[in-house]
Amino acid sequence: MENNKKPVVISIINLKGGVGKTTTAVNVAAALRELGKRSLLVDLDSQGSATRSLHRGSVEYTVGDLMFGQSGLEETLISSQVGIDLLPSNIELADYERSLTTLKNYHTYLAKVFKQVSGEYDFILIDCPPSLGNLTVNALYASDYYLVPVLTDFYSLDGIKNITTTAHKVQQLNPELNLLGVLVTRYNVNDKKIVDRQVFEKLQSVLGELLFETTIRVNNPLKDAVINTQDIFTFDSKSNGAQDYAALTQEILNRVGAVKVS
Ligand SMILES: Nc1ncnc2c1ncn2[C@@H]1O[C@H](COP(=O)(O)OP(=O)(O)OP(=O)(O)O)[C@@H](O)[C@H]1O
Ligand SMILES: [Mg+2]
Repeated sequence: MENNKKPVVISIINLKGGVGKTTTAVNVAAALRELGKRSLLVDLDSQGSATRSLHRGSVEYTVGDLMFGQSGLEETLISSQVGIDLLPSNIELADYERSLTTLKNYHTYLAKVFKQVSGEYDFILIDCPPSLGNLTVNALYASDYYLVPVLTDFYSLDGIKNITTTAHKVQQLNPELNLLGVLVTRYNVNDKKIVDRQVFEKLQSVLGELLFETTIRVNNPLKDAVINTQDIFTFDSKSNGAQDYAALTQEILNRVGAVKVS
């Protein structure tokens, strides 16, 4: 079927590790599937966490092979058992990160891959590595938006600043790039730790509307789903995790609809 509509491309990014990037990329893709939207999940992290959370088997070709013309789209793309298409990764992607350094137009390789899939998907979600290296620059260059998951710790605001600085540099190459929002993850509303609440209020006052209203609560089924190679909606559709990611995805759709004219 011919479809000329371009997908909305969103990078999930934070240079800090363990803030919920992969969990967010996987489960927003799943929430979009629940709404009948087609999305492609791109694992741009050589840790391969997004790949392993939806795919049990081996990975023959990675997104890096595809970027460097070492494999074709069909042999690289994995149709996971939960109905989300995946451009996978593994440790070999780290070599490609290094190879990019010496190349002219090093930032354009992922965008070229997306030209091949344009029309097939409503959304492309990129799970970025916890660094601001060459692959992350490729992700931002290929994106319409970036979404920043954060924990409510003292360093979260510094982390956001580092990312927006990088994004401003990439915006000179890709003026279409916009911050979609900052998402508080693994938030424990009932936590007695006053620090979390204070940081949350600080984020609210500094970011205003750029902070998503939805917060992702601490929820163990989000971890258990990964162990079962499932997204949260397939694993436990009644969990708080499923509710939170459904609410976030609704907010994302509202924001994209509000900003994007297509
Ligand atoms: N809301 C949540 N409640 C409970 N556990 C969570 C939640 N979100 C994420 N986790 C768990 O926290 C860990 C880190 O999450 P995740 O892998 O998504 O972070 P990340 O930012 O992608 O990390 P990395 O930088 O290493 O790629 C994982 O074990 C994940 O299952
Ligand atoms: Mg990750």
